[in-house]
Amino acid sequence: MKRSPETVDSQRSPTAQAPFPAIKVENIVKRYGTFEAVKGVNFEVAEGEIFGLLGPNGAGKSTLIRMMTTLIPVTSGRAIVGGHDVVKEPNEVRNMIGVIPQALTSDQDLTVEENLSIYAKLYSVPRVQREKNIAEVLEAVDLTKWRGAQTKTLSGGMRRRLEIARGLVHDPRIFFLDEPTTGLDPVSRIAVWEMLNNLKKRRNLTMLITTHYMEEADRLCDRIAIVDHGSLVALGTPIELKQSVPGSNVVEVQFNREDDGWKSRLMALTDVTDVQSQSAGVYRVLTSNGSRTTTQLVELAAGLGEELTSLSVQNTSLDDVFVHYTGRQLRDEQVKSVFMMPPRPGAQP
Ligand SMILES: Nc1ncnc2c1ncn2[C@@H]1O[C@H](COP(=O)(O)OP(=O)(O)O)[C@@H](O)[C@H]1O
Ligand SMILES: [Mg+2]
Repeated sequence: MKRSPETVDSQRSPTAQAPFPAIKVENIVKRYGTFEAVKGVNFEVAEGEIFGLLGPNGAGKSTLIRMMTTLIPVTSGRAIVGGHDVVKEPNEVRNMIGVIPQALTSDQDLTVEENLSIYAKLYSVPRVQREKNIAEVLEAVDLTKWRGAQTKTLSGGMRRRLEIARGLVHDPRIFFLDEPTTGLDPVSRIAVWEMLNNLKKRRNLTMLITTHYMEEADRLCDRIAIVDHGSLVALGTPIELKQSVPGSNVVEVQFNREDDGWKSRLMALTDVTDVQSQSAGVYRVLTSNGSRTTTQLVELAAGLGEELTSLSVQNTSLDDVFVHYTGRQLRDEQVKSVFMMPPRPGAQP
């Protein structure tokens, strides 16, 4: 079955409007025999953007990356990377990109620096430039003091950082990372996210990452394309995607005193679809716009000279988004909730 992806309000995303996309994929297809691993996918990645392909194992993420990075033939459709067609001008594409494959591939018996040096030579980076680049990328991934260490002595997180450095040693403009944190412990994973964010800012890199971690897509990516069974099913910023899921924000509110009128006043707020009484003065407010309802609630209470004793907003999570568009759960589920105590009406900020 072929579905067209649901583009969620991409007009509002400033990064989606750059005139020359760093990556443009048009109706791209990959068939293995009769099996269609990628079924006519379309998207653009703006320069300087971190773009995520989010989907479960087998969705077609690695296949997409391999086509965009010239590693496997394209069955039909086009991919333009850095202005060059991956089929017609593969060498031009290769010169502009860095690629981190899904499996760890650094040579275990070489030192950190040797692994980088080999890659720089492979890309014909001249010697003086090579030394400068190696020093810079080592610094960027915080491995300078490990430059002489044998790769096999590094932890998983450090090896991932080495691979990231290696992918950058020839100073590419566009960086492809296939599951950059799979297999890492949570602390190393967060360190890798921070590093990628810093790299993006400092080098104005465009990055395309694949992941099956919701939190990774949410925290790292400017825009996310949800991939399922070889097709794109949704595309947008994390916030746009969450807002596209109808009516699933919940605001839990507690007033300082019980009053018969609360329920009807809450029901009258814009965006509110239902109000459930919990206990005395406590209500669950279902809304299609959690943040606007929160503001209105605070204003409502202030206007009446009443006090809110607590307010908690349960955001729609990317899991809800995934379930909405694919009909199933992805691993690593979690519900994010924000708890905030609003200022007392009339209090100084
Ligand atoms: N060389 C191949 N030959 C046949 N099928 C393949 C090959 N490579 C990948 N596939 C199939 O294509 C689908 C997508 O795989 P892949 O792109 O690796 O998914 P992901 O990276 O999202 O986990 C899977 O069903 C996989 O089994
Ligand atoms: Mg993969």
